Amino acid sequence: MTICSAPGKIFLCGEHAVVYGEPAIACAIDLRTRVSIQESLDTSITSKLGRGIDRHPYVLKAIERMKMLTEFDGVKVKIDSEIPPESGLGSSAAVTIATLSAINMEFDVGLSDEEIAELGHSIEVEIQGAASPTDTFISTMGGVVLMPSRRRLKNLDYGFVVGDTGKTSSTKELVGRVSLLRERYPDVVQMIFNAIGAIAKRGEHLIEEGDCSAIGELMNINQGLLESLGVGCPELSAQIYAARDAGAFGAKITGAGGGGCMVALVSHDHAEKVAKAIEEAGGRAIKARVTEVGVATEDE
Ligand code: PMV
Repeated sequence: MTICSAPGKIFLCGEHAVVYGEPAIACAIDLRTRVSIQESLDTSITSKLGRGIDRHPYVLKAIERMKMLTEFDGVKVKIDSEIPPESGLGSSAAVTIATLSAINMEFDVGLSDEEIAELGHSIEVEIQGAASPTDTFISTMGGVVLMPSRRRLKNLDYGFVVGDTGKTSSTKELVGRVSLLRERYPDVVQMIFNAIGAIAKRGEHLIEEGDCSAIGELMNINQGLLESLGVGCPELSAQIYAARDAGAFGAKITGAGGGGCMVALVSHDHAEKVAKAIEEAGGRAIKARVTEVGVATEDE
């Protein structure tokens, strides 16, 4: 049996625009999904989401792809995740990468981390229709990364407080909604994407300088641009304003939006106050930090 775990992620800036090639900055966070793989005659999947294999399209696709590279009848898969599903924290990427990596180890397939990230991305594209390589790359490699160049940036010495609305959202649907808006108003939407990309370019230098108040201010601007793309919702806005009022450097949606999670950048002394404000605004607050650890094997 092999157990692998992979982290979730937050977007400091750049979601949606990154699907069209603009730069974005994402950070792996210390919430992980663990997947255990054991060779078996047939395939079964157990997780809190339920036993049925149909509930796990990413895991099924990962098994199918690995079967093209090595021979096995089936696998017993057990999933244990700290990452809320369909909430903008990269849960699909984490389960895909942990599954690919555990099968890779269990059957000595010999794929490198880069190949696993690539394979994970192609699975996301196949299932979602369109997906940037951000989630799968970050989940494999960990750390703070500028996409699509994959340049690793300095680790952030600040904390995050994530606010979960508890309302799940479909990345595929939200990406589709933005794509329709782009078809209707290509000139306008392209300028919004360019502005989001400019935030990531600035952010790259601000991270190196450690200027958290400017990063926070740019996160707030990024939030306005995400709102203009129609991916906001009242629950997210309530938590975003509450976090800013409680002293966060900045706060915005993370991931596809339309529900899911927001993220606030905070100093360590403000984390508790911001978490409380998010809870009072109706969210579930999760304190998170950047992790350098990407996909990794775990002891049984
Ligand atoms: O909500 P998530 O964690 O699946 O993130 C989606 C991020 C998008 O930029 C909207 C899509 C993508 O594939 O990058």
